[in-house]
Amino acid sequence: MLDSVYNQRRYEGISFDKATPSALVSAGEIPLNESPETTHLSVVDGHGNAVSITTTLNSSFGNKVMVQGAGFFLNNEMDDFSSKPGTPNLYGLIGGEANAIAPNKRMLSSMTPTIVTYNDKLKMVLGTPGGSTIITSVYQTLLNVIDHGMGMQEAVNAKRVHHQWYPDEIRVETDALSNSTQAQLEALGHQLRMTDKIGRMNCILVLPDGRLEGGADPRGDNTALGY
Ligand code: DON
Repeated sequence: MLDSVYNQRRYEGISFDKATPSALVSAGEIPLNESPETTHLSVVDGHGNAVSITTTLNSSFGNKVMVQGAGFFLNNEMDDFSSKPGTPNLYGLIGGEANAIAPNKRMLSSMTPTIVTYNDKLKMVLGTPGGSTIITSVYQTLLNVIDHGMGMQEAVNAKRVHHQWYPDEIRVETDALSNSTQAQLEALGHQLRMTDKIGRMNCILVLPDGRLEGGADPRGDNTALGY
């Protein structure tokens, strides 16, 4: 109801010349641009205890059932079960036998809440929404710190690329690859699909002196806070 485009459309239907019969007045078309609503949070307390939580509705407004009196939606994780072999889900992922809708099976999930330790000490807490791209974002951010020596925020900011087996394409964030790398990949027969954002990481890195560095993804409205 606060969406200005929606309100403009409602306003355009008002006639100042003639009364409109009530039978012609009905609800407007609600813009379904609500995000898929997966959320990740990473927390570390003063004792070094860590929490990494990824929680999801899977798709906009989940299964669209609100729990009466509780005020939250139920999720749409049934989409992550494989209803028909070879048929992709909302995120283009193809489930297998293990994801069948049957007892003792599990839905396919990319959610990757991650806690990294080194020599039994906490090193990093990571995670993100993003459906099928979640594993990619977490892995590339990890590599940026561990193998490329970046700090947490720098690692989160770094551009990402994603391939998920099917569909046969590489998703590439704008400016992630040079023109020559793109040309070389295309020459090898890869399909590139440019996209402006992959993931919205929320991460914490324990620095060598014990201080914590937050990495809040500039791709979203993420924030890192210390108390
Ligand atoms: O479990 C999964 O992998 C999916 N249900 C997650 C969906 C998701 O991250 C959508 N949000 N961006």
